[in-house]
Amino acid sequence: MSMKVHVNPELCQGHNRCIVLAPSLFTADEEGFSTENGDGTVPDDQRGKAELAVDNCPEQAISLIHD
Ligand code: F3S
Repeated sequence: MSMKVHVNPELCQGHNRCIVLAPSLFTADEEGFSTENGDGTVPDDQRGKAELAVDNCPEQAISLIHD
């Protein structure tokens, strides 16, 4: 089963915790708002970081998708 992350742009307020906790999974735009890298696929060795990012976003803007 693969895991993906997705940032809801309507919820993200640019707190940047996701980028600090999982820098390989997210990129900030010039205003500090985050988007997932690529199609959001989380490599197996980044799963813990993805979960940390989800848990630490104050806006609960990041979702984990299992498919
Ligand atoms: Fe946005 Fe949450 Fe990251 S508010 S920048 S998705 S920590």
